[in-house]
Amino acid sequence: KKLIIINGPNLNLLGKREPNIYGSLSFTEFLDKVKQKYSNIEIDYYQSNIEGELIDKLQEVGFLYNGIILNAAAYTHTSVGIGDAVKAIETPVVEVHISNTFNREEFRHKSFISPNAKGVILGFGLQSYELAIQSFI
Ligand code: DQA
Repeated sequence: KKLIIINGPNLNLLGKREPNIYGSLSFTEFLDKVKQKYSNIEIDYYQSNIEGELIDKLQEVGFLYNGIILNAAAYTHTSVGIGDAVKAIETPVVEVHISNTFNREEFRHKSFISPNAKGVILGFGLQSYELAIQSFI
């Protein structure tokens, strides 16, 4: 099994960014632990702050991998382009969010990803990603 976690804008700052909302663990620290725990599956990782780069990556892996775990971060709420890419590819996408976007600002309630996602996991902190991995095994 080959999975990829794709993180969108500002998620490179995890651990430093609003730790009250997003926690104090960096994503690479978290990923190291998860990779050890699920050593029987290949888990790749990609992060970009750039909308078009996220679309390029979705297209690149979207016909090759068994699953995509996507946290498009702020682009979740704005990007028709990323939503269309999720629709265009064959690989199932599980949408994840660290925070419960429904108990935050109104503008975070809209997702361009959800209509074409296999499922959505949100509000469990970094554990949201682990639950998404489990959904593919
Ligand atoms: C987020 C929620 C988004 O609303 C926000 O813009 C983020 C992170 C989350 O994982 O909770 O950057 O996707």
